[in-house]
Amino acid sequence: MSRIAYVNGRYLPYAEAGVHIDDRGYQFGDGVYEVCEIRDGALIDETRHLARLERSLAALEIKAPRSLTALRFIMREVAARNRVRDGMVYIQATRGVARRDHGFPDPGTTPGLVVTAKAIDRRIGDARAAMGVRVIVTKDLRWARPDIKSLQLLPNVLAKQAARERGAYEAWLLDANGDITEGASTNAWILTAAGVLVTRQADQAILRGVTRTTLLALLAGEGLRFEERAFSLDEAYGAREAFLTSAVNIVMPVVAIDDKLIGDGRPGPLALSLRGKFHGFAEVSSA
Ligand code: PDD
Repeated sequence: MSRIAYVNGRYLPYAEAGVHIDDRGYQFGDGVYEVCEIRDGALIDETRHLARLERSLAALEIKAPRSLTALRFIMREVAARNRVRDGMVYIQATRGVARRDHGFPDPGTTPGLVVTAKAIDRRIGDARAAMGVRVIVTKDLRWARPDIKSLQLLPNVLAKQAARERGAYEAWLLDANGDITEGASTNAWILTAAGVLVTRQADQAILRGVTRTTLLALLAGEGLRFEERAFSLDEAYGAREAFLTSAVNIVMPVVAIDDKLIGDGRPGPLALSLRGKFHGFAEVSSA
């Protein structure tokens, strides 16, 4: 089946789905995006993803390309037209097309909007989780506002590529204090040797993951010792368990950080249990 993309008001076959070369997303990375999981034909945590999209747009003073109601419709339409039951929907909004000039274009410029959907076999993620993944650690080279989900992903791209070249699934990013901020496209968590679950506080140094937020709500009922704070690389190396979170990855156990095995080198029971419970806590909005 050929894929269909929504591009600036039209549903187009992939071969015809393009944006103008003067789109500011292409020229400057001047735009934002969201990735929302589709599971059994339903959108997972759609409300939180759309709220974050609005926040990212507002932070960069980009006009909302469509109303939330229209966006909700388009997301479903793209998922349906591509017959995606399990996978993801991707939304990208940019400041629109204008003659290249760094400053903002005329306020009347129409923002750009692209929505795509992709099927992902759930068994792949489940098999990966059963084995656990390895992460490497690399310097966090991003700008000072990674809390905005912008298209400026070059440091993330380089970090992910470094991970691939070392046979790892993800790169965890190290700040100037020797603390882990988050992954190239995921949030980072550890269960410390003392049994405290830790993830970095959601300040301007990380993206406030939607999966992270939903997991925090889940944790509130678990009676676990939990802290939102920075954790060091050494603390991570010595952790009892580690895992990463993001849409589609859900909760993914980490079994090695660089060449250090975490725990006994197998997925931790807490990570697997949280993975199993996650969708019972997430918002599930049917099409
Ligand atoms: N990445 N941190 C970063 C830097 C991210 O890019 C992402 C999401 C997350 C997790 O956020 P969420 O739980 O809302 O998916 C954390 C998406 C999936 C991506 O770039 O493809």
